[in-house]
Amino acid sequence: MKTNIALIGFMGAGKSAVGRILASGLNKTFVEADAMIERKAGKPIPEIFKEGGEIGFRELEIETIKEIALQKNQVIACGGGTVLNRINIDRLKQDAWIVWLTASAETIIKRTGLNGERRPLLKGVANAAEIQAMMEFRMPFYERAADFRVDTSDLDTQGAARKIAAIVKQNENNNK
Ligand code: S3P
Repeated sequence: MKTNIALIGFMGAGKSAVGRILASGLNKTFVEADAMIERKAGKPIPEIFKEGGEIGFRELEIETIKEIALQKNQVIACGGGTVLNRINIDRLKQDAWIVWLTASAETIIKRTGLNGERRPLLKGVANAAEIQAMMEFRMPFYERAADFRVDTSDLDTQGAARKIAAIVKQNENNNK
């Protein structure tokens, strides 16, 4: 039986907020990949992007996911682009159910405030159509990675966590 749950999805889909609640409800350790990357690098994500570009960030992300994937009994909030490198998902899948959180472009805008200082890939992104285009580019990556998909647009964090817990539990019962 898999012991980890990895949350994937676009920026602002709720991975961290929902993951925290889910972890405490299931008595699992909450791990935020981005926070671990920042600790490893000794600097915040915008700095990592400034100095090493997206490539530098992705290298650190691969190293970090490799370490996380070896630990057990965690809820893992991945970064929005973790799916872009297949090696990350292959490693996570060894011991994690992969749950894809989705939200509408309008919801993403509300939740992220399109803040490019905090999230470098949102720099210069101005509206829902541009978010939609980024989401569409990533869609096949999320689709290929996901075991389950949960739309969080109309759910609060508690509701989303409850839904994920129920889906994972039902799946485990079916596999018994
Ligand atoms: C990224 C999402 C961010 C962070 C980095 C890149 C992405 O995480 O990993 O800025 O490529 O979508 P969140 O999804 O937690 O914002």
